[in-house]
Amino acid sequence: MSSAFQPFKLKDVTLRNRIAVPPMCQYSARDGFTNEWHWAHYAVLARGGAGLVVVEATGVSADGRITPGCTGLWRDEHIEGMARIAASIKAAGSVPGIQIGHAGRKASANLPWEGDDHIADGDSRGWETISPSAIAFGGGLSKMPREMTIADIERVKADFVATAKRALQAGFEWLELHFAHGYLAQSFFSMHANTRTDAYGGNAAGRSRFLIETFEEVRKVWPENLPLTARFGVIEFDGRDEETLAEAITLTKTLRDGGLDLMDVSMGFSTIDAKVPWGPSFLVPTVGRVRSETGMPVASAWCVDAPSDIEKAVATGQMDIVMVGRAMLADPHYPYQVALALGEDRPAWTLPAPYAHWLSRYRGAGKGAAQ
Ligand SMILES: Cc1cc2nc3c(=O)[nH]c(=O)nc-3n(C[C@H](O)[C@H](O)[C@H](O)COP(=O)(O)O)c2cc1C
Repeated sequence: MSSAFQPFKLKDVTLRNRIAVPPMCQYSARDGFTNEWHWAHYAVLARGGAGLVVVEATGVSADGRITPGCTGLWRDEHIEGMARIAASIKAAGSVPGIQIGHAGRKASANLPWEGDDHIADGDSRGWETISPSAIAFGGGLSKMPREMTIADIERVKADFVATAKRALQAGFEWLELHFAHGYLAQSFFSMHANTRTDAYGGNAAGRSRFLIETFEEVRKVWPENLPLTARFGVIEFDGRDEETLAEAITLTKTLRDGGLDLMDVSMGFSTIDAKVPWGPSFLVPTVGRVRSETGMPVASAWCVDAPSDIEKAVATGQMDIVMVGRAMLADPHYPYQVALALGEDRPAWTLPAPYAHWLSRYRGAGKGAAQ
């Protein structure tokens, strides 16, 4: 059997294969509530055969959403819709995961297809943004955030904890803390965004403190038998990558020692001046390095979607789980196509019986045979 289709066990959870759907915002919620769009979207992705489906970045508070269309779990009333999503993912044979986060200085943005920039000051759809320091991201996201007080920091940590509890209540079995992509937690870690002089800034230990404390608080309420993971930007492609990577690996080891079960390795996106070397599998060597230096399981995404690249990333031991995003949007049954391309003509591995049965039974036959 190809490596990509080996099951993967983490704590009490077993993924049927190594392909996961990464969190992908749908920008289609209202007041944080999910609706028909999300219910169908996630069910379809899970039926496509991925081992794990991680629900999009979900706000731990209303001001933690990226856009007014982002999902939330800051109210108990949000649980019901999310429970429906978790149940449909599980019914399709995938593990239901969710990413929770706070968007920090990148919050209060317009939907991507309505500008992808900050909502203009004075527009009632927007809100005040917060960040470790009063430094704007730049470009279209130039709204100046308010520097967080210690009370703000305590409030956001408590919001992460309350949201993790609601995610568990909703039936999710895999929790991912959003510590990446220039949002709030990544901003604490980043020298581009954090110039604080108190205990939450300064050297790498200070800039890591918010992430460690948030993780530790969530660890206390998330069950030991279910995976607790984080997505973290270990590299910025800003010219000081060795230094950032070394700091990120030190932080990853601290989280590992505190009980983090898997690191979803990603990029920082903390500066508009990043020069990302886009291309097939460009991040894989960095991911492999995090895995070998920390000895912990890793997942990652970013242009690892050619079937041979997925197989290679797992077979060479650089990645435990390959997250496939855009290819799943283009074809929700993509895992079936990956299996076929790897020479595994076993529809039942990836597709539900009402589909797999017919593909197996009339394999090689013309369409007329299926009457
Ligand atoms: C529509 C869309 C929404 C996304 N939303 C999120 C998100 O909510 N959280 C996150 O960490 N990454 C998000 N991403 C990044 C994806 O999780 C993934 O890392 C990225 O698409 C690269 O993988 P790919 O090359 O297989 O598409 C999003 C990407 C897309 C295309």
